[in-house]
Amino acid sequence: MSRTISFSILKNINNRGYIQVSSISKSLNIPIPFIIKIINKLQREYYVKIEYHPKYGYRLQSPIIMLNQARIIAGIKFSSVIVECIDSIDSVYTYMQSMLVQKGKYYICIAEEQTNGKGRFDRFWYSPPTENLYFSLKTTLSSKLKDLSGLSIIISISIIEVLSEQYPNLDLKIKWPNDIVINNKKLAGTLIDIKYKSTNIICSYITIGIGINVNMQKSSKLKGEWTSLANELNKHVDRNQLAIGISNNLILTLKSIEKNNPKSPINNYYKYDYLKGKTVSLSISNKKIIRGVICGINKLGHLKLKVGHSEHTFASGDVSIIKDSEAQL
Ligand code: BTN
Repeated sequence: MSRTISFSILKNINNRGYIQVSSISKSLNIPIPFIIKIINKLQREYYVKIEYHPKYGYRLQSPIIMLNQARIIAGIKFSSVIVECIDSIDSVYTYMQSMLVQKGKYYICIAEEQTNGKGRFDRFWYSPPTENLYFSLKTTLSSKLKDLSGLSIIISISIIEVLSEQYPNLDLKIKWPNDIVINNKKLAGTLIDIKYKSTNIICSYITIGIGINVNMQKSSKLKGEWTSLANELNKHVDRNQLAIGISNNLILTLKSIEKNNPKSPINNYYKYDYLKGKTVSLSISNKKIIRGVICGINKLGHLKLKVGHSEHTFASGDVSIIKDSEAQL
């Protein structure tokens, strides 16, 4: 099924009140049987609650708050920010990676759906239409590569600050290096790409990609343990408000990194450290797996792991927690 068509149909049905399938067919120039097939799939695969009345047609049980570019722009406190909201795209992150940017400007792209969302280690990031936040920001920083280590942790803290301000009762934690979890269930993930150009000026090009599960309540597609804001809060969440908060706090964070702000945000990591003291297996390059006990992170944001009697640090890797019952063995 083409996701772009399913998104267009969803947008039509979202137009408050009932809509006849013939009107959708006319406005999108798609045959009626195909539209009915997609409506059925929207209900089955994305759990969209669509009601049908034989006389009046289709309507959403509760209307979806779509992304609103003008509202997001109005909510951003900084100048030199360009915001683009897109209906459907393969990935806002890959789009932003290829974007040419001017020094000192912030480019933000947010999509209603991604057809080829990217996760860490080339995994697929499930991005169903209108449910979640698929956000990417690109900018330049006058910082050297070595001063940007730990950036992914700093970004995760910046996201947590916004989430805890908007939704104070959530028990948000960071699962190193960049997962945001609630009770070991994944709520959000981040990707970061840094390209350093050393000419006569110091300039790093930073692309950040953030995926937050917002209103997704069920999914037959996701395997691991996950949660969403709606599942935790028992209410529908406005993605525009979230996008505004994240944009403002990210820009503030990036500006403070650039000014070499001495109060390192990494110090805040300990408040949110989900892994401390846990026995884990760490998968690093060459498919090597190391088992040990987590001892926090160092100043560079690298993971400290006690393996046997010695402590080792790792700049990257994929952590799986070993359950207490298995950790004793
Ligand atoms: C992870 O594996 O935890 C990172 C997930 C990052 C997903 C976001 S969604 C917006 C942006 N676009 C992408 O294709 N990926 C990132």
